[in-house]
Amino acid sequence: MTDKLIIFDTTLRDGEQSPGASMTKDEKLRIARQLERLKVNVIEAGFAASSNGDFEAVRAIAQAIKDSTVCSLARANDRDISRAAEALKGGNSTRIHLFLATSALHMEKKLRMTPDQVFEQARLSTRFARNLSEDVEFSPEDGYRSDPDFLCRVLEAVIDAGATTINIPDTVGYAIPELYGNFILDLRKRIPNSDRAIWSVHCHNDLGMAVANSLAGVKIGGARQIECTINGLGERAGNCALEEVVMSVRTRKDYFGLSLDIDTSQIVAASRLVSQTTGFVVQPNKAVVGANAFAHASGIHQDGVLKARDTYEIMRAEDVGWTANKIVLGKLSGRNAFKQRLHELGIEMESEAEINAAFAKFKELADRKSDIFDEDILALVMDESVTAEHEHYRLLALSQRSETGERPHAKVAFAAGDQELHAESDGNGPVDASLKAIETQVKSGAEMLLYSVNAITSGSTESQGEVTVRLQHGGRVVNGVGSDPDIVVASAKAYLSALNKLHSKNERVAAQG
Ligand code: KIV
Ligand code: ZN
Repeated sequence: MTDKLIIFDTTLRDGEQSPGASMTKDEKLRIARQLERLKVNVIEAGFAASSNGDFEAVRAIAQAIKDSTVCSLARANDRDISRAAEALKGGNSTRIHLFLATSALHMEKKLRMTPDQVFEQARLSTRFARNLSEDVEFSPEDGYRSDPDFLCRVLEAVIDAGATTINIPDTVGYAIPELYGNFILDLRKRIPNSDRAIWSVHCHNDLGMAVANSLAGVKIGGARQIECTINGLGERAGNCALEEVVMSVRTRKDYFGLSLDIDTSQIVAASRLVSQTTGFVVQPNKAVVGANAFAHASGIHQDGVLKARDTYEIMRAEDVGWTANKIVLGKLSGRNAFKQRLHELGIEMESEAEINAAFAKFKELADRKSDIFDEDILALVMDESVTAEHEHYRLLALSQRSETGERPHAKVAFAAGDQELHAESDGNGPVDASLKAIETQVKSGAEMLLYSVNAITSGSTESQGEVTVRLQHGGRVVNGVGSDPDIVVASAKAYLSALNKLHSKNERVAAQG
């Protein structure tokens, strides 16, 4: 019999803390459904007490998800824990995850609490949470940089108070695999009641070792839960990447000897969904989910793979959900086929009117682009001008003129609430001219932190361009994503989408604060 490794996905909580990655309730729900299809064991849906928006998102996910445990983060205080319990109420299988910092640095400088106060608060709040939920996880924040003696004292007490999972965060990504593995092993050996809890690892990637550290925590330390995010999304250098740990444990089952519930064929779909939703592009050479992860360019490699696949391939592309660019729909596809494909992609639209609007956009796209791929459909429904009539800014029309030796000029018409605005401007290039034109009317004063263009499907200039724009204003960072076969139009859509987020009062800066 093999031990099971629990996969705890925190894309919707720790991943969302990445500046600009905050998501709407509907976006979170869509990703949660894909995580359920991926068969992750636990979905950390958010931090219910951090905002009304996050509370509603946790609540919606707890109601919708049946096959994975749905979890909410909470600080170790009664108010946060009660909010988490309330948001999770009625869910099929739920967990409260509380955290409290235990490193000397965090206790003294951030919490301004003595170790004894932290000990008492950890113990009492775990007991409080356990009265509200059978399934309680405790995380000593900055656990890896905490004094081991103090940590043993706290963890023994919280296990006694009812914690069922103990998670050891390497909050700042400081660990080294062997040291982190042994750190967990020592805690498990020294704490008398350690066998009453499942041990978990939570690693950040500041030194590029989050995956290696997590695997060492499992192999050396004996942890049986890994906390991770799709595409390694997360603050700073991100979190441990789900696709990488999962495929490591699966590909090297000979070494880890652990079983997983994950349906790996859903990995690429999850990666694309998260990337298209947040605007965080996946680098081409990213393990497992990068566009080049299974591409063999060198003649020697190609020859080898053709003769015997395992000469250069340790995993099969189809096992993680890479299919050769499959044409899914075209110009002649009907509304029912479109609706069915949306369903297969996990996209549930709330009303028939929304489906009609998306179908109209699909037909428009199919007139301009002969083959429509899954990626095109995902991009299309991510496009807020399709799904959200209520968005404040919407692109209506754009024209631009550029000629060698001439300064490009753009004219843009867009809706701002009930008003129709017209703007024009010159710029360094047609994109610059279009965005400057919009800005002459909106006057957001936002600083642009990022502008990036990607082809949605690789291999041809027929592909749609997907543009991400990151704006910063008044201490908030937001991402806007837009797609269109014309990259100038895609850029204007992305810019308006980011402006919509700045315009929205509900948008949060980060879940954890
Ligand atoms: O990195 C961290 O310490 C966390 C905890 C809240 C688990 O994300
Ligand atoms: Zn974290």
